[in-house]
Amino acid sequence: MSAAISSEPVNGMAISLKDVGAAAAHWHPVLDSAALRDAPQAVQLMDHALVLWRDAQGQLHAWADRCPHRGARLSLGRVCDGQLECAYHGWRFADSGRCVHVPAVPEFVPPAGHSAQVFAAQEAYGLVWVRLVEGPHSLPLFAAESDAGLRKVHCGPYDVATSSPRIVENFLDMAHFGFVHAGWLGERGRSAIADYTVQATATGLLATNCWAWQPQSHVHATQGTMVEYRYEVTAPYAAVLTKVPQPETAAAAAWRESIAIFICPVTAERSRVWFRLAVVDFDSPDSALQAFQNTIFTQDQPVLESQSPRRLPLDPRAEVHTVADKASAAYRRFLQGAEITYGTC
Ligand code: FES
Ligand SMILES: [Fe+2]
Repeated sequence: MSAAISSEPVNGMAISLKDVGAAAAHWHPVLDSAALRDAPQAVQLMDHALVLWRDAQGQLHAWADRCPHRGARLSLGRVCDGQLECAYHGWRFADSGRCVHVPAVPEFVPPAGHSAQVFAAQEAYGLVWVRLVEGPHSLPLFAAESDAGLRKVHCGPYDVATSSPRIVENFLDMAHFGFVHAGWLGERGRSAIADYTVQATATGLLATNCWAWQPQSHVHATQGTMVEYRYEVTAPYAAVLTKVPQPETAAAAAWRESIAIFICPVTAERSRVWFRLAVVDFDSPDSALQAFQNTIFTQDQPVLESQSPRRLPLDPRAEVHTVADKASAAYRRFLQGAEITYGTC
């Protein structure tokens, strides 16, 4: 893990945190871990261009994608002897971020100010996570990850032209099943939502006792079933759902699954989405489970990208609501209370 930073400038350049607000202190996914090998990779998080790279030990580093010398993108460079070398004048940076070699002046010993801007980074759930400023928050919890009885499958990324909160809200929303996912997760004639329970939690909310009729609840379902959902918001832009079909109608005996959604707020109105599936199925190829998730999310995507405004309105008067929307209302209240301004309006 790279050294944690504060919001103070580390190399004489002001850190431009623009309007990212409280979300900057949370961990956000930015790239598949497997996609980061020998070459540096450019990613974007909350309008900030970052370079990710691995040192000689395979250790991950996340820096501002800007050389402190003349502002070239460090992601154009390469890793040499465990150091990141800028593509422009060949300055080399050690894993601490500090410049250790200037080829044009080989005898020059760069001072501490000749440093790249370093951010905290770590790997979990098959993803690289970065936070822009220090904060008290942990990575979003996905309890199923450590359940040996559930097989994990990675899905995504999906690039979606809307804010991250709009995508979380859609993930919590059951009233669209019979329309957006007709024949799969719902049916027009059976789209009434029975009352369910929502409670606030430290990381967002927990919604329980949520029931839906689902013609094709999962990849192996051969008949419709009532399915109980449990939703948990685990971070401003992350959530988990757990589905348990009614035992007597479940197509697959003892089927259970948990799905995490992890979203990178690329900008306030553009997002990159991953799903992490945890399922009892140890036999199907990854591609079959990914294809099902792909079908469902590509049904959601056009609707999500049509929503206006793209930023989630937190003022209750900005959109109209029914009791079926109480999970999304609780999510909006949570964002407001946590002062998450990025991706909201
Ligand atoms: S801009 Fe990077 S070494 Fe000059
Ligand atoms: Fe959906």
